[in-house]
Amino acid sequence: MKLKRILKRILKWSSLAILLAFFVGIILLFVAYWRSTNDCGRTAAPNNPMKAIVYCDYGLANLKLENIEKPTPSDDQILVKVRAASVNPLDWHFIEGTPKIMRAMGVGLRKPKDTRLGVDFAGTVEAVGKDVTQFKPGDEVFGGRDGAFAEYVCPRANRAVAIKPANITFEQAASVPIAAITALQGLRDKGHVQPGQTVLINGASGGVGTFAVQIAKSFGADVTGVCSTRNVDMVRSLGADHVIDYTKEDFTKGDQRYDVVLDNVGTQPLSGFRRVLTPKGIYVMIGGGGPNDSQWIGPFGRVINTVVLSPFMSQKMGMMMADLNHNDLTILADMMQSGKVKPVIDRTYKLSEVPDAIRYLEQGHARGKVVITVE
Ligand SMILES: NC(=O)c1ccc[n+]([C@@H]2O[C@H](COP(=O)([O-])OP(=O)(O)OC[C@H]3O[C@@H](n4cnc5c(N)ncnc54)[C@H](OP(=O)(O)O)[C@@H]3O)[C@@H](O)[C@H]2O)c1
Repeated sequence: MKLKRILKRILKWSSLAILLAFFVGIILLFVAYWRSTNDCGRTAAPNNPMKAIVYCDYGLANLKLENIEKPTPSDDQILVKVRAASVNPLDWHFIEGTPKIMRAMGVGLRKPKDTRLGVDFAGTVEAVGKDVTQFKPGDEVFGGRDGAFAEYVCPRANRAVAIKPANITFEQAASVPIAAITALQGLRDKGHVQPGQTVLINGASGGVGTFAVQIAKSFGADVTGVCSTRNVDMVRSLGADHVIDYTKEDFTKGDQRYDVVLDNVGTQPLSGFRRVLTPKGIYVMIGGGGPNDSQWIGPFGRVINTVVLSPFMSQKMGMMMADLNHNDLTILADMMQSGKVKPVIDRTYKLSEVPDAIRYLEQGHARGKVVITVE
């Protein structure tokens, strides 16, 4: 009887504690939500202005071209006059604040914390910090830095910036960083692609895909690209040995087996990819889904599936997050210099037209890269 009474008491108090924790959690979340803000409307008029794309609230309609303070390089930074930038699906994730789980992970619950957009850039070094030895004013560079939809950026000299090869334009160089590094790291570090292996690139005609086809070929692989009818010739011209038109044929039902699958679109169930992998094959999930798909967790559901299933299979299933760094930009610069990789540019827009560029990319059918020219 005594034990029963004690158990009842424990149950009662633990239920009350859980309920209390729940309500405190809700209140804290509510407070965090309303306190979530940014520096919009709180900065003084710029003394030394430059034009940049700024957004104070989530949503494409809130993008504005504004005058803001031109950055000054710190000791380890360089000041780059941006000549071109490029757009990536990453940009619309930040613009829309989706998947919404991102907002709770530091991007900003109610409003974007960082009001600047864009990452990929190419331009000319205008000034260098006192500790910088790798670059000098006048150097033509390309790389990745938050806030690249602007007239100037200040990347750290030892981070994601490298000398632009002389044989490519600023527009071509700006199209490289995120997309080509993703393709390179996906094929080399996750796919471990070896000469003679069979590689399938799902989504071969987009930003990542057009680089992936060329990089896989440069590794000596036998490459199959998957794209829609209008892009078949383009993907073949990039060096693909075989091209599958997904509007006519479902590659997951075919007899061909692949050592590595690089999946840029996530259009097929994982079981379909497993079916076409060799017994020791590797599936590398790069991305997939548009701005309106799975608004709360986005591709994370598929990522969890992939990670949970992988230990129970002989095949390797995994995802990757690109790491923008100097060494890989230099490797890509060499590949462009030697002609092994040539960026494919679909459309170019002006800095003031960034919303139109994003709107186009959001449709999910860009043919190569979408570039912003900055004059
Ligand atoms: N994990 C990372 O670190 C990382 C880095 C960069 C990008 N990503 C992600 O990777 C994905 C691709 O990026 P991206 O820059 O290449 O995007 P993108 O330039 O918008 O390319 C999308 C491509 O997908 C193709 N596509 C659409 N439906 C398809 C289908 N059913 N089958 C095959 N292809 C199809 C389109 O070709 P058609 O016009 O021929 O249909 C288009 O060329 C995005 O989800 C992005 O968020 C991830």
